[in-house]
Amino acid sequence: MDKFLMWGGETLRGEVRTSGSKNAVLPILAASLMADTPSTITNCPWLKDVDTMVEILEAMGVRVQRTYEGSLHVDPGPLESHEAPYELVRKMRASIYVLGALLGRFGKAAVSMPGGCVIGPRPIDLHMKGFTELGATIEQRCGYIYADAKELVGREIVLGGPAGSSVGATANVLMAAVKAKGTTVLSSAACEPEIVDLANFLNRMGANVSGAGTPIIMVEGVDELHGVDDYKVIPDRIEAGTFIAATAVTRGTVTIKDAEPAHLRSEIAKAIEAGATVETRNGDIHVDATGGPKAIEVVTQPYPGFPTDLQAQFMAAALRADGMSRFVEKIYPNRFMHVMEFARLGADITMDGNRAIVHGVEHLSGAPIMASDLRASAGLVLAGLAAEGATTIHRVYHIDRGYEDIEEKLGALGAKIKRVKSN
Ligand code: EPU
Repeated sequence: MDKFLMWGGETLRGEVRTSGSKNAVLPILAASLMADTPSTITNCPWLKDVDTMVEILEAMGVRVQRTYEGSLHVDPGPLESHEAPYELVRKMRASIYVLGALLGRFGKAAVSMPGGCVIGPRPIDLHMKGFTELGATIEQRCGYIYADAKELVGREIVLGGPAGSSVGATANVLMAAVKAKGTTVLSSAACEPEIVDLANFLNRMGANVSGAGTPIIMVEGVDELHGVDDYKVIPDRIEAGTFIAATAVTRGTVTIKDAEPAHLRSEIAKAIEAGATVETRNGDIHVDATGGPKAIEVVTQPYPGFPTDLQAQFMAAALRADGMSRFVEKIYPNRFMHVMEFARLGADITMDGNRAIVHGVEHLSGAPIMASDLRASAGLVLAGLAAEGATTIHRVYHIDRGYEDIEEKLGALGAKIKRVKSN
């Protein structure tokens, strides 16, 4: 297993490019199998999770080629199986997206149940509710979900759960609804930019979706969908937000290029609260954090609230902040695996259920630490940037699932970080 060796204390300076969004490209790749002709999707990040989605499509007979850097050509013509097997689904929960896509295209799907998850329980009841209400029969046996529908029929479906809207359920049910007869109204729908990107892709395929980005999405069913040429995936707001936090952690001055500042309003507001000045121009976000970091209050919420996927990275910024910061995790109440590792670096954090109180300390000191999931790992890398001396981060395969060339990108900004390959 690869690890990162880091030497903290450098101030990040310069420019860094944002990659395409992982959480947008995954449902878009699944949706591409609903067409009867090929699609070309550009600005695809080169990530382990994207490789897994490609492997799932290929296992079903879809032909996928990386045509040039960052672009995927998907030909669903040869698709012959309706099954996503355990060996692939177990690697990534987002594999569940092929269920909605297959159901929409063939009225039939078999997808291995996604397993447990280190960030806490991640039920899929809302996905199943949506499919059932569209007229599918869902059965769970031998670790698989079998979905079957003679005909999908549009209707009003409420997709909210106790934690608010569900990104996955909205995307999954939307894909199936696009091919349902008549009108579907998805209410309490997730408003995340990745949902808007999926809806735009589906509309380019010939679907009739309106209202994406609001809690009410309307879908007029269509009979056929075709492939799309050169669909460009949106920038990864979580990667860009991670660079904002990294700048705050190191009290640096960084311009984040090719981002979408409109998707990062709550993160930019939080960076300003942490003492940074932030300027946005076209797709660039210029962060000057030489004045910080100051203590912050973070409550994670569905978009446009502060994202759970950046809680660990902004906590890394709070570790050396002036004063006491508070974090409340409302999406995944147990998503605090990074806290014990931060403590190994000398952080002062008290936990109370889904709340963490961070008292800023003057110094962090390097230590061996262990990555547990994708975003927690990003938090550890950021803390390693601030810790004095050497930090070793084990199990960095987690970070490779969702960050393209993270060590090169941070290295180009002045971070001392090196990957040690395992044999
Ligand atoms: N929920 C239910 N029932 C469901 C589905 C969700 O109760 O059927 C609950 C969840 O337990 C959670 C909340 O609803 O409390 C929100 O979950 P959501 O379904 O929105 O999450 P997801 O679609 O499984 C996506 C991202 C996650 C991100 C969450 C929240 C992808 C592939 N994954 O997951 O990203 O944390 O939305 O924003 O888009 C990551 O990239 O590292 C990551 C975990």
